[in-house]
Amino acid sequence: MKDRIEALGASFAEAISKAVNETELEALRIEYLGKKGHIASLMQSLRDVADKKAAGQMINAFKCEVEAKLTEAQEALRRAAVEAQIRGAKKYNPTLNFSEELGSYHPITLATREVEQIFRSMGFTIEDYAEVVDDYECFESLNIPNHHPARDMQDTYYLENGQLLKTQTSAAQNAIMKKYGAPLRAIFPGRCFRNESTDACHENTFFQMEGMMIGEDISISNLIYFMKTMLSEVFKRDIKVRLRPGFFPFVEPGFELDINCLICGGDGCPSCKNSGWLELCPCGMIHPNVLRDGGIDTEKYTGFAFGLGLTRLAMMKYGIKDIRDFNSGDLKSLSQFKSL
Ligand code: DAH
Repeated sequence: MKDRIEALGASFAEAISKAVNETELEALRIEYLGKKGHIASLMQSLRDVADKKAAGQMINAFKCEVEAKLTEAQEALRRAAVEAQIRGAKKYNPTLNFSEELGSYHPITLATREVEQIFRSMGFTIEDYAEVVDDYECFESLNIPNHHPARDMQDTYYLENGQLLKTQTSAAQNAIMKKYGAPLRAIFPGRCFRNESTDACHENTFFQMEGMMIGEDISISNLIYFMKTMLSEVFKRDIKVRLRPGFFPFVEPGFELDINCLICGGDGCPSCKNSGWLELCPCGMIHPNVLRDGGIDTEKYTGFAFGLGLTRLAMMKYGIKDIRDFNSGDLKSLSQFKSL
C-alpha cells in the first residue's frame, strides 16, 4: 500500500506542477479524488490489507495532501490572472482627459489656420478681435447708421449695457485701421452671431475671416487676384468663381463672390439652396466714409475688404453637408479631422 501511495504521490506532484489552467486542475481533481479516482480505488483495496487502520490513515493523509495541493494551485492561478489583469490595465489618468486618445482639431480651426498661412505668405498680419462689441464698431463705423435697412439682415443678441455680439468680422475694421494706419494688410478671423432660425446652411453662431488691404493704387484687380490665389490654394485646384454686384454699405462697389458648390458639383443641393453656387466671399472697395472714420487719408489711399465665410469654406473643403454639425459637439463627426 505504502509503495502504491508513494508512486501515486510522485505522479500527482509531477502532473500538478505542469497544470497551467483551471481546466487541467479540475481534470486532476477528478482523476485523483473522483468517484472512480485513484483514491477511491485505494479505499477499495483496503479490504485485502491486514493493518487496515494504518493503511486507512495513510490513504487519508494522501487524500488531504492532494486536496490541499489542488486548492493551493487553484488559488495561485487565480492570483496570477488578477495580477496580469492589473498589469495590463490602462493606467489611471488623474486629469479630466478621460480618453487616452489624442484630441483632434475642430474643422474650423483647421480651415482658419490654412487660410491664415496663405495670407501670411502674402504679407498679411493676423489680428484678433473681441466678440462683444458696440454699435459703433459693428454698424456706425461701417457706414450703417441707425435705422439703416441693412441692419434688418443682421439682428443679433444685445447685452443690457447696449453692447452686442458682433454680427460680422467687419466690426474690427475701424479699430484695425486706427491701430495701424495705411498702408495696411491684415486678416482677422472671428466668431459671429446672428439671431437666425437655423437650417442646413444657417446657424446663429458661425465664423468669418475678414481681410483688408489698404495702400496707394489698390484696385479691384488686386482684390480679384488675392481672392483667386487664396481659393485655389485652399482647395488645391482651380475653383470656378463668379462675381456679382452686391450691396454692402461699407464698400463701393461691392460684390458677391460665389464659388461652384463642391458638395453637389453645381447640380443643386440643400447646402447651396439648390442654386449650384455658394456665396463665399462678399467683398468690395472700402467706402471712403469707412476709410475716413478709420483715420485714413482718402486722397492718397484706397483699399479692398472681404468677409470670407469661414464656416462655409470648411463645409466645402471637408464636404460637411449640415452647418449645424459644427456646433453639435458630436465627437463622432468632429473627431474625423485630425490632420493639420
Ligand atoms: N460683413 C459682411 C456680412 O457679414 C460681409 C462683407 C461684405 C465683408 C463685403 C466685407 C465686404 O469686408 O467688403 O454680411
